Amino acid sequence: MEAGVSGVDRAIILAGGSGTRLEERSGGANKHLLMLHDAPMVLYPLAQAIEAGLTRFLLVTTREALPTFRALLGDGAKWGVTIEFASQSRPDGVAGALAEGEGFAAGKPCCVLLGDNITDGDVGLREALQDFRGGAEVFAFPFEDPRAYAVAAFSSEGELVSLEEKPAVPRGSWAVGGIYIYDATAFDRIRGIAPSSREEREITDLNRSYFAEGLLRVHRVGGHVFWNDAGTPGSFDRAVEHVALARQRGNLRLGNPARAAVEVGLLPREE
Ligand code: G1P
Repeated sequence: MEAGVSGVDRAIILAGGSGTRLEERSGGANKHLLMLHDAPMVLYPLAQAIEAGLTRFLLVTTREALPTFRALLGDGAKWGVTIEFASQSRPDGVAGALAEGEGFAAGKPCCVLLGDNITDGDVGLREALQDFRGGAEVFAFPFEDPRAYAVAAFSSEGELVSLEEKPAVPRGSWAVGGIYIYDATAFDRIRGIAPSSREEREITDLNRSYFAEGLLRVHRVGGHVFWNDAGTPGSFDRAVEHVALARQRGNLRLGNPARAAVEVGLLPREE
């Protein structure tokens, strides 16, 4: 690894799935390609990742959508990064999609981003990538009703006490967002995960396997950061609203990989 480059340089962006919850907007097309305000949804996590210092990407999607992603993103050279592609043979949950990235990870730690998560503000990803020493790291956001997400609960001392996927009765009020960092043991762990009640291999089961061994670190991100899983019509609309407002306030950075690349010095300023 080059000096000055973050400890983790590669990321897997998950942009597959059947997207049934957003079907009324997508007409069955891949939701990550939907225009979210003025940029395709997938560009938001990509720009965020570039801004955090990541330079090597694998995008995992469905066989049908892959050519469109390839046409949109190319090989990443226009942003000074590399982008490779992999397709899932069948939808198999977030952890199942991540399994496709084993060859790309090549035994190195990896950042994983869900292609439908829109974040505005500094979650501390750059620092976390630079300081990563192994295990798994996730980012949690305060959320009034976190039942639609993975929910983390903490003791009064700040220790993580439970982590559950979509609990009917949440024990805590922290939603775990779609930004993760894993060491190379993730892929072996995924092989041991059984399908959940929604017939998917859950990312939360992967995180729980690290938690069980005391190897999970949860970054609690303050309420100043906007975090949104744009995978349902209501939250999609909230994300659009947020981006529209941000643009009015002069934020041209969100969902804009070129700006992110300029910001981190991958592209010269005049481009
Ligand atoms: C997925 C994960 C969940 C996480 C959420 C964040 O949920 O399973 O743990 O909190 O993304 O966006 P899904 O969108 O598959 O319901």
